[in-house]
Amino acid sequence: MSASNDAVRRQGVRRAVCPGSFDPITNGHLDIIERASSLYDVVHVAVAINKSKRGLFSVEERISMIEEVTAALGNVVVESHHGLLVDFCRERGIPAIVKGLRAVSDFDYELQMAQMNHGLSGVETLFVPTSPTWSFLSSSLVKEVAAYGGDVSHLVPELVYSRLTARIAEQR
Ligand code: PNS
Repeated sequence: MSASNDAVRRQGVRRAVCPGSFDPITNGHLDIIERASSLYDVVHVAVAINKSKRGLFSVEERISMIEEVTAALGNVVVESHHGLLVDFCRERGIPAIVKGLRAVSDFDYELQMAQMNHGLSGVETLFVPTSPTWSFLSSSLVKEVAAYGGDVSHLVPELVYSRLTARIAEQR
């Protein structure tokens, strides 16, 4: 850990990161961010830049939606990142990754990533069981259902719903 990260830790600010693609943020993501926000002083939301995968929304659009729907929490910082998540954590003095687990099927891959990240840098991963209300939910499914005209208004925040339906209409 660098000297500046030591300084951040010494200030006693407890930080965690919620990473993901967030294309777009869903109520399931928001549930996990809200719960992390109640446990930590500062929650960093890291929006992954994946150059090989074109999203429905640009990274800037995703960040803006997340900022708007988390503004009331008061301790959420939203940033993009590319490269290794552990480097994002190291640069900001973040010792913990918070991830939602929707079902046992999520666990295999999440465990591999948690062990890899811990082995690379000592960063811990904390798993939060997703609320059963959102256990079937993913951004991919929301986009698919919305693209075929299904109602997803109860699955994403209101502003995300309006931007999602507008984007799908533009693409028709
Ligand atoms: O929402 P997603 O697409 O399931 O999020 C996956 C994400 C972005 C959290 C994961 O792929 C990630 O952490 N990527 C950053 C690159 C990295 O650190 N890879 C090694 C993981 S062990």
